[in-house]
Amino acid sequence: MNFNIAVLPGDGIGPEVVREGTQVLKQVAGLYRFQVELEEGIVGGASIDAHGKPLTEPVLKLAKESDAVLLGAMGGPKWDALDYSLRPERALLALRQELGLFANLRPVKLFSALASASTLKREVVEGTDLLVVRELTGGIYFGQPKGITKLPDGTERGVNTEVYTTPEIERIAKVGFDAARRRRKKVTSVDKANVLEATELWRKVVTRVHKEQGYTDVALDHMLVDNCAMQLIRDPKQFDVMVTTNLFGDILSDEAAMLTGSIGMLPSASLGGKVGMYEPVHGSAPDITGKDMANPLATILTIALMLRHSLDQGKAADRVEAAVEKVLDEGYRTADIKSPGCKLIGCKEMGRLVRDKIEKLG
Ligand SMILES: NC(=O)c1ccc[n+]([C@@H]2O[C@H](COP(=O)([O-])OP(=O)(O)OC[C@H]3O[C@@H](n4cnc5c(N)ncnc54)[C@H](O)[C@@H]3O)[C@@H](O)[C@H]2O)c1
Repeated sequence: MNFNIAVLPGDGIGPEVVREGTQVLKQVAGLYRFQVELEEGIVGGASIDAHGKPLTEPVLKLAKESDAVLLGAMGGPKWDALDYSLRPERALLALRQELGLFANLRPVKLFSALASASTLKREVVEGTDLLVVRELTGGIYFGQPKGITKLPDGTERGVNTEVYTTPEIERIAKVGFDAARRRRKKVTSVDKANVLEATELWRKVVTRVHKEQGYTDVALDHMLVDNCAMQLIRDPKQFDVMVTTNLFGDILSDEAAMLTGSIGMLPSASLGGKVGMYEPVHGSAPDITGKDMANPLATILTIALMLRHSLDQGKAADRVEAAVEKVLDEGYRTADIKSPGCKLIGCKEMGRLVRDKIEKLG
């Protein structure tokens, strides 16, 4: 088997963490006997500097023709003054739209060695292992009408529209149910059906898909978003798969992320089209760029998601995740997850240790 991977390191710590991720990918390809061809493209601020825009046609073509895309991070203070339409982060939205990535999967798993890095009590967070499935291309971020208009009295009016159609809800519900089947078979659909009609429809359609499309082996419950925000910090272990709208998913996945202690630990996958896109949740971290301080584990865990969801290499994915757990169990930490008594190491050393464990786990 031969897979073409588009590698888009981006800005800031993007290239530093992506380097560690691709080394892991090449290593497991050798161990599990498949081929990977990695081709790099310039995106984000680096592309603005080189070509005057955050995403060029050749890079988009590279992404579209690949089997999967690995993305680092984009943006930084250098480009903050640019018009919104030219900002590095626009490349991310364009890629998501062009690749038809309507489902964002964010696993939130607390490695038990890191329980003390969370701001919540160990007994609350220990054992947390949930997956947020966020709808990514619809809802209030894209609904029309939108914009800011001037009113006759000189004040202004800002409008966004929350809108979902039956097919948009059906396809994300299926992603959630299918994911739950590979896990603990429980889906919590999160909405605000008591107030917002768009999510009243959401609840109706999710319930119908569950019943009519043969997902009754998966348990389904519904939760209002305000209660869900509370339940996430009260008892996160009650959740397996959470399926929700673009806006609610944006907020709840950041809240869930904090259960694990550091954004430097969180991978994500965006799926839906022919090509999946994989990226660590964090940004370009300009404050630590070039200092060998970045935590590469989010990107290495992102590679595990790519192995599982796009390359059909579940065993290799399990081995990568087990290696990460082992390195943490032995007390090695980058600065963002350090705790008293740990062995403080840099980005490159963390990558090297994980590769070492992957080798030995065989
Ligand atoms: N997907 C993306 O490309 C993406 C996502 C978020 C932010 N951004 C962009 O990144 C830039 C910086 O944004 P920000 O500071 O709000 O968010 P950020 O995620 O870059 O950084 C937030 C904090 O977390 C730390 N951090 C992040 N990743 C880390 C890692 N792997 N290891 C150790 N520490 C890590 C940083 O040092 C910083 O203190 C902005 O231009 C923003 O627009 C891009």
